[in-house]
Amino acid sequence: MTQPTTIHPGETPEQHAAFEARIARGEKIEAGDWMPAEYRRQLIRMISQHAHSEVVGMLPEGEWISRAPTLKRKTILMAKVQDEAGHGQYLYHAAETLGATREDMLQALLSGKAKYSSIFNYPTRSWADVGMIGWLVDGAAIKNQTMLAGCSYGPYSRAMVRICSEETFHHKQGKEMIVGYAQGTPEQRAMAQDALNRWWWPAVMMLGPHDSDSPNTGALSRWGIKLKSNDEVRQEFINEHVPELMEAGLTIPDPDMHQDASGNWIHGSIDWNEFWAIIKGERGLNKERLGAKQAAHDDGAWVREALQAYADRARGVAAD
Ligand SMILES: [Fe+2]
Ligand SMILES: [Fe+2]
Repeated sequence: MTQPTTIHPGETPEQHAAFEARIARGEKIEAGDWMPAEYRRQLIRMISQHAHSEVVGMLPEGEWISRAPTLKRKTILMAKVQDEAGHGQYLYHAAETLGATREDMLQALLSGKAKYSSIFNYPTRSWADVGMIGWLVDGAAIKNQTMLAGCSYGPYSRAMVRICSEETFHHKQGKEMIVGYAQGTPEQRAMAQDALNRWWWPAVMMLGPHDSDSPNTGALSRWGIKLKSNDEVRQEFINEHVPELMEAGLTIPDPDMHQDASGNWIHGSIDWNEFWAIIKGERGLNKERLGAKQAAHDDGAWVREALQAYADRARGVAAD
């Protein structure tokens, strides 16, 4: 955690020390402020990856809008999916304040160069998956995002505050749905348990590799970007969700799950091979997700052209 941070050519140790002193005082770093090139690079990487996760995350749930069982569930799901689009927008804007362009970020996503959360490469097989995603995936995201709301970069931190309040609604609707099914008919209970069986481990893994395998954690924590480690955030997620899932009458699909003397719930060993295979697209729906994004991007070409033509005309540029 205390290894030196990268000093790029043209930067001085004094500049770094002054910058780190600002962060230690709890000041927010704003877009026009001096910042180390490496701080900027890491933030662009994290924020754009986060933005991509929000917009790719619309796909697995969006598939169920037309199949929602009731009008109430359909309107909730539509609102949730639209919220995720908004989260993507906030975050792309936050990355743009650091000099990243929307075109570059989109190209990095579509070419597979930029990653997004591995969780969205899993298929949604039943309606209960929609509830389970709300409860577990949004639940895990809230833990991470609540931490990021306190991060040192002002625009990211403020975007997180707004996003977290919407994620809280996503989490509540998922929990309410699954608790209802877990206490419903035998078919509904089986559907809820099956969804938990498939989503539990991906949700545990989505909080990232163990701290010992997380190469960026040292610099990110020193610069106040990451205030807690992956394992700390994962523990918070597990401690909150294990008792609630059990109270709902569901079984955690981890035979080694147990509570230790300090009250923490301890999980069994995680299959990181699956995590990396899913991230690299060797398993799961990476190709389909990127295909859907590419198709949407291509379908929207005429909108971008029309907006450009309108903007050119407004600036008095001749159309031909
Ligand atoms: Fe979101
Ligand atoms: Fe969400």
